[in-house]
Amino acid sequence: MANKDFDGIVETSDEWIVQRTGIRQRHIAADDETTASLGEAAARAALDSAGLTPADIDLIVLATSTPNNTFPATAVEIQQRLGMRHGFAFDMQAVCSGFVYAITTADLHIRGGLARRVLVIGSETFSRILDWNDRSTCVLFGDGAGALVLEAAEGGGTTADRGIIAASLRSDGSHRDKLFVDGGPSTTGTVGHLRMEGREVFKHAVGMITDVVIETFAKAGITAGDIDWFVPHQANKRIIDGSARKLGIPDEKVVATVHLHGNTSAASVPLALSVAVADGRIKKNDLVLLEAMGGGFTWGAVLVRW
Ligand code: UT7
Repeated sequence: MANKDFDGIVETSDEWIVQRTGIRQRHIAADDETTASLGEAAARAALDSAGLTPADIDLIVLATSTPNNTFPATAVEIQQRLGMRHGFAFDMQAVCSGFVYAITTADLHIRGGLARRVLVIGSETFSRILDWNDRSTCVLFGDGAGALVLEAAEGGGTTADRGIIAASLRSDGSHRDKLFVDGGPSTTGTVGHLRMEGREVFKHAVGMITDVVIETFAKAGITAGDIDWFVPHQANKRIIDGSARKLGIPDEKVVATVHLHGNTSAASVPLALSVAVADGRIKKNDLVLLEAMGGGFTWGAVLVRW
């Protein structure tokens, strides 16, 4: 769905959307597509690229805020779609930070010996919770899914190891009213719609993102100059540029896909990763910085040796 396709839906313009956000288009799930079907497609693509099959996976962690049903977890439905009756699967709900939370959680399951190979998926159908009469939100979000496989391996305990090098996660519920869904099973009994005070979220975003990235750099004992790629949450090009500038990361190292997908919440980081891996930018052994910030507020950063 291109920006011009909002003609006749809400009073907006391609110029406003591009100038304020960098978004040029977003994808909308077809009527017969769901968070589970998008997640399954991404999972199969990740398994193919890893040369693995569902039989090789023992845990699925799905980051989503738009599950197929209130319960069971959509991860379990993806497990069933993949033909898996072994292992375990669960959903992780941290809105736009979902993938950063999920990959960190998957890593801890591997380190703790509960899993050897984990399918980490971010999948969302935000089009289903948007208020299509609210121009301040409906132009910003899109649907999509991305996935990767994490595998256990012995390392040397240094930043040269492949996999998750360091991570920092944060949340602060005092900001919950700035970005939330006005429905839920225990309150209204309805699904509800996304509500956001965009300017308020924007005001906090760059500071929260840069703080948590600097904390992660300190844990790993590295500086911004050491990273090969910065793959931020794709909400707004101005937030991405502001964060990169404040961290001292040059434009050439920033992966920005917000113009292609809009904000796909928990799917945005894995979608951006998949674009930059497919076009040859991210290569084996590159040091990749992931970050995200969103509803809750939740935010976090993860340093990955690809
Ligand atoms: O995933 C993590 C969470 N989300 C985010 O990170 C989003 C964070 N926020 C943002 O990205 C930005 O705040 C927005 C893109 C949402 C808005 O940009 P802004 O520069 O903060 O604009 P604004 O909210 O200050 O609104 C400016 C004007 C307003 O008009 P007035 O009051 O100045 O006359 C809005 O009514 O733009 C108007 N406006 C629009 N105009 C055309 C709001 N939405 C639209 C629209 N088309 N779609």
